Amino acid sequence: MTRRVTKAIFPVAGMGTRFLPATKSVPKEIMTLVDRPLIQYAIDEARAAGIKEFIFVTSRGKGALEDYFDHAPQLEQLLRQKGKTDLLNTLESTNMESGAIAYIRQHKALGLGHAVWCARRLIGDEPFAVILPDDVIAGEKPCLQQMVEAYEETGGNMVAAMEVPAEKTSSYGMLDIEADMGAMVRTKGMVEKPKAEDAPSNLAVIGRYILSPSVLENLNNIEQGAGGEIQLTDAIAAEIKNGNGVYGYRFQGQRFDCGSKSGFLQATVAFGLARDDLREDLFAYLHDVVNMGKAAE
Ligand code: G1P
Repeated sequence: MTRRVTKAIFPVAGMGTRFLPATKSVPKEIMTLVDRPLIQYAIDEARAAGIKEFIFVTSRGKGALEDYFDHAPQLEQLLRQKGKTDLLNTLESTNMESGAIAYIRQHKALGLGHAVWCARRLIGDEPFAVILPDDVIAGEKPCLQQMVEAYEETGGNMVAAMEVPAEKTSSYGMLDIEADMGAMVRTKGMVEKPKAEDAPSNLAVIGRYILSPSVLENLNNIEQGAGGEIQLTDAIAAEIKNGNGVYGYRFQGQRFDCGSKSGFLQATVAFGLARDDLREDLFAYLHDVVNMGKAAE
């Protein structure tokens, strides 16, 4: 029997320099897809997967995230007085039970592995999830929920996985496959951001993880890796060396790289088109844009 996964770490300490000047005063995770901040998508996905404790690894200037998940009595009162029940309901998903959310600061930008390690005392001796809010995944069943279900069968460690073109391997952790079972692969290694010629496969790690607490112990001894950073990938790869299973899970759903401007725009369009109140207008506009493009050719 595997232990239930009830804690998730959200590494949100990054400076978001790719989105400057916007991120000069707004945390990247507060930037909105349609009308919900990136972080809300991550939290909703975690909740759907049964997560009860939410651990944010933050840094200076991320105060807006704490306010976002706080109750807003004045605003709620105003909406109640005006009978705006719909808006009150949308606010509900931003509320957290007291004590369900914790914030830890990563004092130095030493990499994703270090960010996760900063939360070690709050995780203790249980399996935990990691969600990178930059990776937004749209799907019928939320990605982490798919993984939790698969993990109940395998135990060990599990990372979300997706095939990427050869020229993109240097943007991802790449899996070295030992056995391919279809949706699931068993790995025999993991490499962070290899050049195409050094990549062990074309299966990339996407920002959803279910990890055993021994990964946190591994992080005690991990040295700087790719890009001079402490890499989570290296701490997971160390699990394989220690004889613990590491699985890649090919999830169902469409992943948007909201860490890039183009991915963010694509996600905005996709989530806009998925909304009943926006689809018609947005579609008509896109249709016109495409037709104009054709006319200009
Ligand atoms: C991180 C991880 C990488 C993973 C990627 C997924 O990289 O280090 O292994 O493939 O997220 O989005 P980052 O995009 O933060 O550089």
